[in-house]
Amino acid sequence: MKKDQTRPVRFLLGDERRELSAIDPNTTVLTYLRRVERRVGTKEGCGEGDCGACTVVLAEPEGDRLRYRAVNSCIQFVGALDGKQLLTVEDLAGSDGMLHPCQQALVDCHGSQCGFCTPGFVMSLFALYQEAGTPNRNRIDDALAGNLCRCTGYGPIAAAAKAMKAAGQPDRFAHRAPQTIAALKALDDGAMPHLEANGHSYFAPRSVEQLAQLLTDHPSATILAGGTDVGLWVTKQLRQLGPIIWIGEVAELNRITVDDRWIEIGAAITYTDAMATVEAHYPDMADILRRLGSEQIRNAGTIGGNIANGSPIGDSPPPLIALGSRLVLRRGDRLRELALEDFFLDYGKQDRQPDEFVVAVKVPVAEPKRILRCYKISKRFDQDITASLGAFALTLADKEVEDIRICFGGMAPVPRRARQVEAALKGKEWIRENVEAACWVMSEDYAPITDMRASARYRLQVAQNLLRKFFIETTEPAARTRIVVERRAAHELA
Ligand SMILES: Cc1cc2nc3c(=O)[nH]c(=O)nc-3n(C[C@H](O)[C@H](O)[C@H](O)COP(=O)(O)OP(=O)(O)OC[C@H]3O[C@@H](n4cnc5c(N)ncnc54)[C@H](O)[C@@H]3O)c2cc1C
Ligand code: FES
Ligand code: FES
Repeated sequence: MKKDQTRPVRFLLGDERRELSAIDPNTTVLTYLRRVERRVGTKEGCGEGDCGACTVVLAEPEGDRLRYRAVNSCIQFVGALDGKQLLTVEDLAGSDGMLHPCQQALVDCHGSQCGFCTPGFVMSLFALYQEAGTPNRNRIDDALAGNLCRCTGYGPIAAAAKAMKAAGQPDRFAHRAPQTIAALKALDDGAMPHLEANGHSYFAPRSVEQLAQLLTDHPSATILAGGTDVGLWVTKQLRQLGPIIWIGEVAELNRITVDDRWIEIGAAITYTDAMATVEAHYPDMADILRRLGSEQIRNAGTIGGNIANGSPIGDSPPPLIALGSRLVLRRGDRLRELALEDFFLDYGKQDRQPDEFVVAVKVPVAEPKRILRCYKISKRFDQDITASLGAFALTLADKEVEDIRICFGGMAPVPRRARQVEAALKGKEWIRENVEAACWVMSEDYAPITDMRASARYRLQVAQNLLRKFFIETTEPAARTRIVVERRAAHELA
């Protein structure tokens, strides 16, 4: 890549412009803030996206307003700041020392004790403050599930979240939005952001052509999307990566399109950005995404990365496979498409060449006759990794199973369809006896392992029980439980 085609990474730190070019691209935003900027309000707890102590907020123009998103600075790399405003706890109080309403509410509601978690909570509250309307308890729970506090207890913090907008006034960030948007737009000249230091380089291509060319030139490069897996390679495995190619600025990968057959989700689309479209077509899958990681993880992580990573316990592949989704890949000028289930070859082995990248996942649009249900089994409701996840897509013709596709995560080295169970049900009457008979076949499809999340026996039992649950819910609609929806309803009553 020629030098004159690249530019430094540019962003705003608060209201001040920053340009970085000679910084190691393995530097996390947290390290940059604490060691380079000496902004030490942002804390390091776990260093792996779990505790939220490092939460910062990134603002980006969205039309004529700013969109604010909380992310974990411990697993975001500095290069991903390009084009954004980075806000930390130091930015919130006014120059006269007046606390931001979210900080003041935390004080008023006694929402802090030792204070270690507090800057992270403040930033999650700040992002929530910027959303329209007053948040209800469900929204508050979702927004704060990625912040852990070991001493205050969540009651006072949730109370602060409820109280912070009581005055109903726009804050000074809203007043300054036009200037901030103008300053952010002025950062970009269309060239490609590039970092180089310590023998490590970083590129942020703007188009798929540039991305394809970079991967041809650097086939061993690490493709970086949301960094919610890759970030941990650096912070936990202490690896040094380079070259890194960030896909967050590739225009073609940042799109969702819907036609009469397919919902095409670009590889750089975050869970948060995919949510509304997924909810509109498949509410059950949206419930799964809502429980994936935390708000901070969903604001950064992508469905494309979840697929490319190839984990057997990734939450998005089972529903996508049950629906018959397809994956689009590109290598050089060549595009290819395959059934998503064929992408997962074996544990840690995917059907992808080193210089090949995921362009998009194509999900069939909803069909009136097809029912999709997904069930995630984990020890905690929020912010927990799956022990087993079952996705069931059923089409009935009268009472007969015209088509059924079942896919489980956590039951095999890859997300895998229950083909024997499907065969046992296809063409049969959708009745309890046939479902019970199919449950017996489950052990022919899966030989799960025992690990810290669940025993093999538990996994097999739960898979059978989820098939039973699915049957009951499709035949006795009143028995249907939607755990996310129900938790929400209970909170609304509280
Ligand atoms: C605290 C925490 C909680 C989590 N909870 C969950 C959970 O509940 N459920 C769950 O499923 N996951 C969970 N995860 C895992 C993680 O969020 C996902 O795997 C995520 O989807 C990865 O997406 P990403 O955009 O962050 O990918 P990255 O971390 O950027 O990349 C992941 C992998 O995919 C490759 N890659 C990315 N994009 C492409 C592309 N376009 N083409 C080719 N290769 C590509 C990268 O090179 C890398 O190998 C959690 C992670 C954390 C840190
Ligand atoms: S330090 Fe725990 S989430 Fe970042
Ligand atoms: S106030 Fe001590 S960890 Fe939250």
